[in-house]
Amino acid sequence: MERTLSIIKPDGVAKNIIGEVIKRFESAGIKIAAMKMIHLTKSQAQGFYAVHKERPFFDSLTDFMTSGPIVVMVLEGENVIAENRKIMGATNFKEAEEGTIRREYATDIEKNVVHGSDAPETAAFEISYFFNHLEIQSR
Ligand code: TYD
Repeated sequence: MERTLSIIKPDGVAKNIIGEVIKRFESAGIKIAAMKMIHLTKSQAQGFYAVHKERPFFDSLTDFMTSGPIVVMVLEGENVIAENRKIMGATNFKEAEEGTIRREYATDIEKNVVHGSDAPETAAFEISYFFNHLEIQSR
């Protein structure tokens, strides 16, 4: 069993599609092991995206991530890191496959509705960034 961190970004929350996103995870057999809504500060967003701190989009990305509340979730399931990335679609919604969340709801490369960890090491870091072990229910 694997775990990953999922975020419904400020644009997804603003679009009122929290349920739509969660429905896609549950329909795929993925379990939600933890969930909360928070509003990141700039420094919290910078810490979360620290791997991107040298990238040209870092400042804009961290501004966007603090522009409204987000929903953070721990997802659990077999191969869930890759499964979640498949359900999300490619970073750039224009390259995302038909039927993926980003293809259907993203409006530009930055405002792409969802985040999902991309590897076991990043999943471990990202889950611990938002949740302690008492807040995660193995199901
Ligand atoms: P990245 O980790 O490459 O993508 P993903 O979210 O699919 O793992 O990038 C993190 C976020 O940064 C991405 O979701 C949107 C934003 N971003 C930009 O705004 N411009 C860009 O050119 C890239 C590559 C990403």
